[in-house]
Amino acid sequence: MGDPKVTGLRSAEFQVPELKLATKFYEENWGLEVAAADRDTVYLRGTGTAHHSLILREGGEKKLLAVNLAADNKTAVDGLYEKARGLGASVEAPEELGGPAGGYGFVFHDLHGRDYRISSDITEHAKKPAAKDRPVKISHVVLNSPDREAQSSQFIDLLGFKLSDRTGYMDFIRCSSDHHAIAYTTIDSPTLNHVAFEMPSHNALMYGAGRMKQTGYPTEWGVGRHGPGNNIFAYFVDPNGYVIEYTAEVQQVDDSYKVGMPEDWERPPELQGDDWGFADGASDRMRAHTK
Ligand SMILES: [Fe+2]
Repeated sequence: MGDPKVTGLRSAEFQVPELKLATKFYEENWGLEVAAADRDTVYLRGTGTAHHSLILREGGEKKLLAVNLAADNKTAVDGLYEKARGLGASVEAPEELGGPAGGYGFVFHDLHGRDYRISSDITEHAKKPAAKDRPVKISHVVLNSPDREAQSSQFIDLLGFKLSDRTGYMDFIRCSSDHHAIAYTTIDSPTLNHVAFEMPSHNALMYGAGRMKQTGYPTEWGVGRHGPGNNIFAYFVDPNGYVIEYTAEVQQVDDSYKVGMPEDWERPPELQGDDWGFADGASDRMRAHTK
């Protein structure tokens, strides 16, 4: 067996001031479904097999509480914990996890003290067909990091992530065939930038974006196509100020992928980050909420 590694992105965990209202938005507007709930927490799923892709926890204003990552089994969880601890990372000992999806895992703190729960043996749902306008799963999380290169290196060296691309302001790292599960961007405060959910197709992304528009949530950036990852995007701001993205057609990569460097990703600024050249730049509202 090789070095233990993280093998997937499971979910993001948001603190929200009013659980009922936030849940209603993510069900009715965003297209997720409640998988489980307890006193102050709701677990929302897409149409994929993951038990949940988003956790909402009542407690207060916008705050990313955790990013949840997958390892293949308990041996891998223990191996990752020992390796991270041995190399000086701040970690909490593995334990059986409570909650409706069970599992076994430990908490890893990044260079800025953000929490990542790395787990195995989480309950899964039976496979069901994709819907024409609903997310399948979480796709990626983008986090602001004052020292993004040090932060990506920590994940590469300790948790088995691989660098897919580095642009002038963003590092894209992967832990599966998806081009990126996490991206770190250079913004001074170590906060959440946005969370993306995968739509099963470009068509489904358009249906979702249309539903959002019709229910009072206009697209804040997009529809467009990113350079790194080649994914189609449409960004929105939720009622609590979280920036969320529908994405589709995320590039699938393997070890033969040639890592791109900033010079490979220079693009004319008038494209506004959209390879198609169709989207206007991100709205001021969205920019304010990504910090
Ligand atoms: Fe994104």
